[in-house]
Amino acid sequence: MRSKFVAAAVLTSLLSLAILASCSTEGDILYKQRLAWKDPYNVLQSWDPTLPNPCTWFHVTCNMNNSVIRVDLGNAQISGPLLPDLGGLVNLQYLELYGNSLFGPIPAILGNLTNLISLDLWENLLTGPIPTSLGTISSLRFLRLYQNNLTGSIPPSLGNLTSLQELKLQKNAFNGSIPSSLGNLKTLRFLKLNENMLTGTVPLEVLSLAIVGNLTELNIARNNLDGTVRSSELRVTAIIQDELKTT
Ligand SMILES: *[C@@H]1O[C@H](CO)[C@@H](O)[C@H](O)[C@H]1NC(C)=O
Ligand SMILES: *[C@@H]1O[C@H](CO)[C@@H](O)[C@H](O)[C@H]1NC(C)=O
Ligand SMILES: *[C@@H]1O[C@H](CO)[C@@H](O)[C@H](O)[C@H]1NC(C)=O
Ligand SMILES: *[C@@H]1O[C@H](CO)[C@@H](O)[C@H](O)[C@H]1NC(C)=O
Ligand SMILES: *[C@@H]1O[C@H](CO)[C@@H](O)[C@H](O)[C@H]1NC(C)=O
Ligand SMILES: *[C@@H]1O[C@H](CO)[C@@H](O)[C@H](O)[C@H]1NC(C)=O
Repeated sequence: MRSKFVAAAVLTSLLSLAILASCSTEGDILYKQRLAWKDPYNVLQSWDPTLPNPCTWFHVTCNMNNSVIRVDLGNAQISGPLLPDLGGLVNLQYLELYGNSLFGPIPAILGNLTNLISLDLWENLLTGPIPTSLGTISSLRFLRLYQNNLTGSIPPSLGNLTSLQELKLQKNAFNGSIPSSLGNLKTLRFLKLNENMLTGTVPLEVLSLAIVGNLTELNIARNNLDGTVRSSELRVTAIIQDELKTT
């Protein structure tokens, strides 16, 4: 009788373990990402896939429902690609991976992270374009991709990020023109596009952000832009460009 009870209890806990395991997809995603990275200083040592969820792992923060809301791995000396699987961390708010040696493209699926507030991938070795899909993350306040090897043009879809406060894309290899849709970003405080290969003129819609928006720094220096900017009347603390041309 007693052994039967014990067996039933064991079976029940095995069952609940199995249920927990099948629910721990966020842990699976992060563990898969851990395996794809080189981690010479073992900062990911606590990322143990046998735990029921990743909420006790270092550098991971969860909400009260045990769903991941932050990954904090800035300056962690990790290298490797960003797995598209990260797009499954549906409650993620902060992806802080700056100052590493991440390479390869920014996965377009990150556009599925509709709760993201901050995407900090600056100072890595990322290549390829900014995915157009990032323009769908309406919660995004900080998009800092500077100092990578990103190419292509700045997607006009970024003009849909109407909560954006910082757009820092400097020190990449972006070409094409500055999209006039960025003029929709009335919340923008910092727009840094310097040290790319941008061409064309700075759209008036963007310049006007200094008057109708909150823009305090616009840096467009060291591109291939045609300059006809007159800055003296603008409420901007700094417009930094190569040379002012008055025509
Ligand atoms: C936790 O889950 C409950 C029920 O699904 C939901 O109502 C609540 O908003 C969630 N809380 C957070 C912080 O996501
Ligand atoms: C991403 O979002 C799209 C549209 O909502 C959906 O069809 C797709 O399944 C999602 N992909 C992942 C990996 O969650
Ligand atoms: C990044 O781009 C620069 C200049 O285009 C190039 O010299 C460098 O080799 C590239 N680095 C990587 C890691 O692709
Ligand atoms: C986002 O921006 C693009 C280009 O500016 C535009 O075509 C599109 O309709 C906008 N809205 C959404 C929801 O993507
Ligand atoms: C931008 O550079 C890519 C190569 O990286 C090239 O294919 C494309 O035509 C360029 N676009 C513009 C507008 O110069
Ligand atoms: C501009 O900044 C102020 C002060 O931070 C803020 O109260 C206001 O809502 C901002 N305006 C916009 C359009 O974001």
